[in-house]
Amino acid sequence: MAYSFTVIGFLHGTEIESITGSDSGSRMLEFARKNLSLLTTSGLSKRIEELKRFVQEYKKQSHKEALESAYRLQSKTRSFETNQIQCFQFNAVGDEELPKSLPEVDMVITDLPYGKLARWEGRGTDESYVERFLEKLEPKLGPVSVTAIIHDKKQRISHSGYKAIRSFALGKRRIVLLELERNLA
Ligand SMILES: C[S@@+](CC[C@H](N)C(=O)[O-])C[C@H]1O[C@@H](n2cnc3c(N)ncnc32)[C@H](O)[C@@H]1O
Repeated sequence: MAYSFTVIGFLHGTEIESITGSDSGSRMLEFARKNLSLLTTSGLSKRIEELKRFVQEYKKQSHKEALESAYRLQSKTRSFETNQIQCFQFNAVGDEELPKSLPEVDMVITDLPYGKLARWEGRGTDESYVERFLEKLEPKLGPVSVTAIIHDKKQRISHSGYKAIRSFALGKRRIVLLELERNLA
């Protein structure tokens, strides 16, 4: 998981100071850490060594192509320090608040659970979950910040204290960009 953050890190690394991801599921976090580690020098080198072994052992075209891609990423993208990439377990709609140690953020991207594969962990409606999540997030948002919510067409996005500045469709998903009303005043 954390595909989107990893891709954003590769494409826009030079414009980003640090990346922090969270999920309520420990298994999801395991995958997220593995994917995000590709943005660091040591993580990408480790993956290159793994792919070299696969190429030798299995002689598959797909492994060769993956190795070529990894070398391209190594030469063309910015790599992050390990302390600039973080993941933590957090229930976005539970009682717990975001950790005090989490610094102010400028950009939040969240892909809401939808369909059968990814469900909300909690009891409530999509609308109440989004409200709760945005309420928790508010104190951590900087004066120039944007929150992007990727959602399903059927999910209603409710957001007191935020203003939708743009909304658009991308394939089967919709994306709404929110700014804090206090920042717009
Ligand atoms: C559609 S997936 C997001 C995938 C992610 N954007 C990616 O790039 O891989 C939705 C995620 O929400 C997580 N989730 C469900 N309920 C949650 C909750 N209450 N708090 C935090 N995360 C939750 C699921 O574990 C799942 O990983």
